[in-house]
Amino acid sequence: MQAAAIDSFGPAVQLRVRDVPRPVPGPGQILLEVHASSVNPIDWKIPGGQMAARYGAAFPLILGFDASGRVAEVGHGVTAFAPGDVVFARSDVGAGGCYAEYALLNVGTVARKPAELSHAEAAALPLAALTALNGLRDPGQLQAGQRVLIIGAAGGVGSYAVQLARNLGARVTGVCGTANVALARELGAHDVIDYSREPVLVPGAGYDLIYDTIGAHSPAAARPALTSNGCYLALVPGPGIEFFLPGQTARKAGGAYFLVWSPTGADLELLAGWVRKGQLKSIIDSEFSPDDIQAAHRRSQTLRARGKIVIRVK
Ligand SMILES: NC(=O)c1ccc[n+]([C@@H]2O[C@H](COP(=O)([O-])OP(=O)(O)OC[C@H]3O[C@@H](n4cnc5c(N)ncnc54)[C@H](OP(=O)(O)O)[C@@H]3O)[C@@H](O)[C@H]2O)c1
Repeated sequence: MQAAAIDSFGPAVQLRVRDVPRPVPGPGQILLEVHASSVNPIDWKIPGGQMAARYGAAFPLILGFDASGRVAEVGHGVTAFAPGDVVFARSDVGAGGCYAEYALLNVGTVARKPAELSHAEAAALPLAALTALNGLRDPGQLQAGQRVLIIGAAGGVGSYAVQLARNLGARVTGVCGTANVALARELGAHDVIDYSREPVLVPGAGYDLIYDTIGAHSPAAARPALTSNGCYLALVPGPGIEFFLPGQTARKAGGAYFLVWSPTGADLELLAGWVRKGQLKSIIDSEFSPDDIQAAHRRSQTLRARGKIVIRVK
């Protein structure tokens, strides 16, 4: 099968499409015929070697964490899905492995694709929307009626976070550049701050949660804009930011956290429920073929994507 993989880590490493053996599902795994995948910044951070310890060095390393497609085979003990089922997932196998014609998935990360989404729209969703959900729910502990500031409202994670925060009943302020103000409103932001024209973190603003998907600010700058019990959540680690680990519930008033989470099919089902009710959609920035995977990564590296960049595999 064809797959896009790297052969080493380093600043000049190129992601290349090549022939690799089709994987065989082990116990508790499914083999997915991938119809679409999508790009997340982690896919161009891994080749640089930033996460070499975490993602190992079993080269060639196939990248791509998101997939939507059809179940081709199931491994021993898998009863929830059968060949032919149409599903989507955020892979937790190796470095994802979804930039490929076939990908292995652990069954606990898989959910049925909502019919309302095309494969491209479904492949856009898992990593970014699960990050949005886990952040708002676990460290964020966002409740109906609370105020949340979402920095990066037009990006992959931010475009889902705005919709989910609105679905949770929060008062949502989105932060983006001038070109994306209308999009942030369309996604459900009650208020929008154009960071190129207005200050973002106004002391006394009284947010219960500041969700900085870009890492554009610091805990010290955020604190005066929070309530006394509020929390600053960042998706990029930095000084003064503690890790918030899967299963953790305790949170300090005024705390600053970096989100760490694990994908589950149950959370993906929760998101699929909002999709089916018409309360969650994917914004597609652009679509690329696997042969243009490097161009897709270059587009992501601009940090100007509006929503998600999709790879059309089939
Ligand atoms: N911890 C985790 O588990 C986790 C999970 C997912 C992602 N991440 C990390 O989170 C970051 C964001 O991921 P993503 O997929 O959302 O990225 P993305 O889609 O590439 O973000 C692009 C967006 O960033 C916005 N942006 C750029 N500079 C901005 C600024 N100063 N203020 C506000 N918005 C700004 C752009 O909007 P404008 O053009 O309007 O500026 C654009 O829409 C990445 O570093 C990624 O690695 C971490």
